[in-house]
Amino acid sequence: MEVLDMEPVNILGLKLPTDPRWVNIAEKSIEDILIDHAYCEQKAASTCMSLIIRFFDKEELVEQVSPIVAEEWAHFRRVLREMKKRGFKLKTPRKDEYVQSLLDFRKTGVSRDDRLLDALLICALIEARSCERFRLLSLYITDDELKKFYHEFMVSEAGHYTLFIKLSETYFEKQKVRDRWQEFLEHEAEFLRTFKFRSDRFH
Ligand SMILES: [Fe+2]
Ligand SMILES: [Fe+2]
Repeated sequence: MEVLDMEPVNILGLKLPTDPRWVNIAEKSIEDILIDHAYCEQKAASTCMSLIIRFFDKEELVEQVSPIVAEEWAHFRRVLREMKKRGFKLKTPRKDEYVQSLLDFRKTGVSRDDRLLDALLICALIEARSCERFRLLSLYITDDELKKFYHEFMVSEAGHYTLFIKLSETYFEKQKVRDRWQEFLEHEAEFLRTFKFRSDRFH
């Protein structure tokens, strides 16, 4: 995927690149990272399902997002397999402050359409940040098996990021998408800048 040979912080529009040293501490907490990753995939599948149910009348959305449910669920199972190889088991899911912060940034008291735009852009943003971090892991983690593992996820989540942006542009004017996307990017960078750096989680 040509786009990924370039610096994804620019490509994906993210305003704050992750410090590559995050990989070193993440690797030391690989059990927690894999468990957190598994839940991220589960949440991605659940969110796609709920998008379909909430916006059942948006045919293109239903058509495009349905296969993603299956993909994210396959990702969940793939992470579980990787955990099993290492003797790791799921634990109680943690509170997800990162996602909560994006949800809190949603506009309230707006039309159903505007809620759709926020929902799609939140999905795009989580995919973009995950993709950025998978890339770092695929480049710098020392375990060769995990390098390959994270490379596969990076490619897949980059595709999902593109899909959610394209879907936004299917339903909204490009300029409107761009403006709201910028607001989300700034909010996300501010959150990561101020939130306590944690090594046991993806975001
Ligand atoms: Fe995924
Ligand atoms: Fe995804």
